[in-house]
Formats: sequence, structure tokens, C-alpha cells
Amino acid sequence: MARVLIQFAHPILSKSRIHATLLNYCSRLKNVTVNDLYEQYPDLYINVEREQRLLLNHDIVVFQHPFYWYSSPAIVKQWFDLVLEHNWAYGREGKALAGKAMMNAISCGGSRQAYSPTGTNRFTINQFLAPFDQTANLCKMTYLPPFVIHTTHRLTDEQLNEYGDQYCQLISALVNDQFTADDFGRVQYVNELV
Ligand SMILES: Cc1cc2nc3c(=O)[nH]c(=O)nc-3n(C[C@H](O)[C@H](O)[C@H](O)COP(=O)(O)O)c2cc1C
Repeated sequence: MARVLIQFAHPILSKSRIHATLLNYCSRLKNVTVNDLYEQYPDLYINVEREQRLLLNHDIVVFQHPFYWYSSPAIVKQWFDLVLEHNWAYGREGKALAGKAMMNAISCGGSRQAYSPTGTNRFTINQFLAPFDQTANLCKMTYLPPFVIHTTHRLTDEQLNEYGDQYCQLISALVNDQFTADDFGRVQYVNELV
């Protein structure tokens, strides 16, 4: 069984539709820890020791957040800048995270078509997430395909709950080591596996 850490970042959870739903569906799963970064660190003063301890105690780290300006909300960047220290996470002596896995679970306003070479946003979601992918690689982690929800403002309540259910199945499957490297290798979004 894998221990999954959800690093959750939404600056205004009270106004969230999709992430509030996803959290409701997965927060009580066994072997899953939800770490709400904005709740813990509203002033962006991140407790590096606490965060590093959390990382050491888990096998898979999921950054769950809305897609903001083709990336993440600011606290995620701050978290990377402070927590992934040289010779701890990377560098000659930096092996603390080796063998663990990282992924993103994101929602975006744009459609899947808009995130294609011929769409408005010109690049795919996977291309925009390259800094996460390469950060994982630098830290000797495996980067998994992202869980992605598109066109969030058009989702009906029924669709929100369908995504909640799908996310819950995904996190449970990660806990139970149900996917192989081959499974991850053949999909653009991990949604295609659940
Ligand atoms: C500051 C800000 C930046 C955003 N940037 C993007 C973006 O770059 N691409 C995109 O597709 N949607 C963007 N959006 C839309 C959000 O991704 C969308 O509102 C969010 O996923 C909805 O999730 P929620 O219901 O949990 O708040 C942005 C929204 C805000 C408020």
C-alpha cells in the first residue's frame, strides 16, 4: 500500500466548486493525508521542517490545485522554492525523495481543445506542467501523468460529482498500487486509467 500526500492549494476554498468537491470525495480515504497549504500558511511562511517530514512519510505526492496563469497558485511555487533544499531533495547528497512519485491534479477554465497546438493556448497541459515534471526528475522522483478537469465553469452539479467519484477512484488506485509504469506511459491524462 502506498501513502498518498495531497498538497492542496486553493486561495479561496469557500468560492471553489470543483476542488471543494474533489476534497469531499477523497479526504477520508485511508492512507491519504490532505495538507491544505493556504490553510496552514496563509502568510506564505512555510514550515520547511514540517513539510519535509510529511514528504518523508509518504510515497506519492499529489499537487492538487486550480490552474492559474498556466501554472499553479503562488503558494505552490513558494513551497518548491523553500522545501526542496539542495543536498536534501537534489544535488550530490540530495536523495530524500528518491523513488517517490509526484503528480498534479488540476482544474482549468480552458477546454482540452484549447490546450493543443491548434488551440488558443497553443501548448498542451502536459507541456505547461514541464517544470513539475523536471523538478520530479531532478529529485529522482517519478512524474505521473496529471489528473485534469477542463471547462470548470460549465460543469453541472452532476458532472462535479462524477469527477469527485473519478478522483476518489484514482487516489484509491494509487494507494493500492493498481497501476504499472506501462499504464502511466500510455496516457496523456491519468483520468484515462479510471
Ligand atoms: C487568477 C486566475 C488565473 C487563472 N488562470 C487560468 C489559466 O491560466 N488557464 C485556465 O484554463 N484557467 C485559468 N483560470 C480558471 C481556473 O482554473 C478555474 O476557475 C478553476 O479551475 C476553478 O476551480 P474551483 O471551482 O475549484 O475554483 C484562472 C482563474 C483565476 C482566478
